[in-house]
Amino acid sequence: LVLIIDFGGQYNQLIARRVRESNVYCEVVSYKKALEKIKEKNPIGIILTGGPASVYTENAPTISEEIFEMKIPVLGICYGGQLMAHLFGGKVNRADTREYGKVELNIAKGKDIFKDIDDKSICWMSHTDYIEEAPDGFEVTAATESCPVAAMENPDKKLYAVQFHPEVEHTPFGRQFIKNFLYEICGCTGSWTMHNFVQKTVEEIKEKVGDRKVLCALSGGVDSSVAAVLVHKAIGNNLICIFVDHGLLRKNEGDQVESFFKEKFNMNLIRVNAKERFLGKLKGVTDPERKRKIIGEEFIRVFEEEAKKLGKIDFLLQGTIYPDVIESGTDEAAVIKSHHNVGGLPENVEFELIEPLRQLFKDEVRKVGEELGMPKEVVWRQPFPGPGLAIRVLGEVTEEKLKIVRESDYILREEIKKAGLDRDIWQYFTVLPNIKSVGVMGDERTYSHTVGIRAVTSTDGMTSDWARIPYEILEKISNRIVNEVDGVNRIVYDITSKPPSTIEWE
Ligand code: XMP
Repeated sequence: LVLIIDFGGQYNQLIARRVRESNVYCEVVSYKKALEKIKEKNPIGIILTGGPASVYTENAPTISEEIFEMKIPVLGICYGGQLMAHLFGGKVNRADTREYGKVELNIAKGKDIFKDIDDKSICWMSHTDYIEEAPDGFEVTAATESCPVAAMENPDKKLYAVQFHPEVEHTPFGRQFIKNFLYEICGCTGSWTMHNFVQKTVEEIKEKVGDRKVLCALSGGVDSSVAAVLVHKAIGNNLICIFVDHGLLRKNEGDQVESFFKEKFNMNLIRVNAKERFLGKLKGVTDPERKRKIIGEEFIRVFEEEAKKLGKIDFLLQGTIYPDVIESGTDEAAVIKSHHNVGGLPENVEFELIEPLRQLFKDEVRKVGEELGMPKEVVWRQPFPGPGLAIRVLGEVTEEKLKIVRESDYILREEIKKAGLDRDIWQYFTVLPNIKSVGVMGDERTYSHTVGIRAVTSTDGMTSDWARIPYEILEKISNRIVNEVDGVNRIVYDITSKPPSTIEWE
């Protein structure tokens, strides 16, 4: 295990993902708990991340110097590197201007950490402070024009620091560099693969659950689906999945989810068709937050009712993944999105939670899905919100309006797939803004709905940009929706990023 000590930098999870890609398991912990976690986990390597602070200011985030005496290799990146320099008595200073972008790095020859990397290589910089002088005992191993100490090391103590960011794509040798630290310096063997993960986890679940029963709320989303198939592999039909179909899913989706789990994997799936119930509760409701609340509560109620019918259940399966649980060096990042959890466990029934994907990043979850033989459409499914199409129909939710979003969304998805853009665009859907406008079709005046297209690129949904779909494809989508979906005479394309907008319209 490698521990990543988080100082709140923007690339911290990226460092963790790079380490995992090198087939080495790692965890991210806040700098506030660094020493305690190191003692508890006994890592074979430590990485100190970047962060927004300056080492020489009062109350700057820091760590116990004891960490450097434990004979565990440490790599400090950006702030982490500056902190190492500072704690060992080197000089860290503030540059007049922030250095940001690609810079050429001049690297000393023959260093293990730069193995298989050219002595002149491009790296990515993003910093204002820099290490001006390396501490005693450290050798400078790379420099750039404005950074006298772009890399330094003390191989006896196994301490390494860099000013550049090896974790970002803009540092082309970054993957190799991180691998060098892991394999050459820490002596990692690279046994973290999803194949091993599946085998180990299946054994653990078998052991833990025995012949008791596990309940799962299945939505058809990537995380809950992969979690369910994984647990099914371990305990078969002692896993009972409840799929609440609230009638707010995309076209054919309910049937697809049902047939996929029942037919392909022979799983024990109970589908509850609760459309009337949800639409009844939503009647006359126009406020977005109320809609979400009603759907969330009703979902739990339906789930509870079904669960009660099943008798004794010992475990509840949840598809929680690592980004939901990382305790970060920035306090605000520790917030867990409430909609990622089913919540609302039935009262007076004691469930124990099973969260087999808790250690994994999304890309790893997808690999597990592939490893389990799940089809691409499920493993690469785009995100879909729990409240479903109800938050894509602005204003009151009615059958008629749902039909328009459902049909238009289907056409959009078909065309995006045909154009081969379904992997590039992170999420794409249509919305019904609840406005009507005048049009002309044939010789007749129309007064019909406007449909909005939303398509965004993103890595985690926290920020996003609008996707630059080629005009010809937009044109085709627009023509098809207007021609094929009753009650639509105008199409608009949403060209706002997040922030200031959100991805969904409600
Ligand atoms: P926003 O609209 O907040 O969406 O920019 C960010 C991502 O989260 C999804 N989303 C939800 N997912 N329950 C969910 O499971 C929800 O209530 C919910 N609201 C938004 C949204 O689709 C996007 O991927």
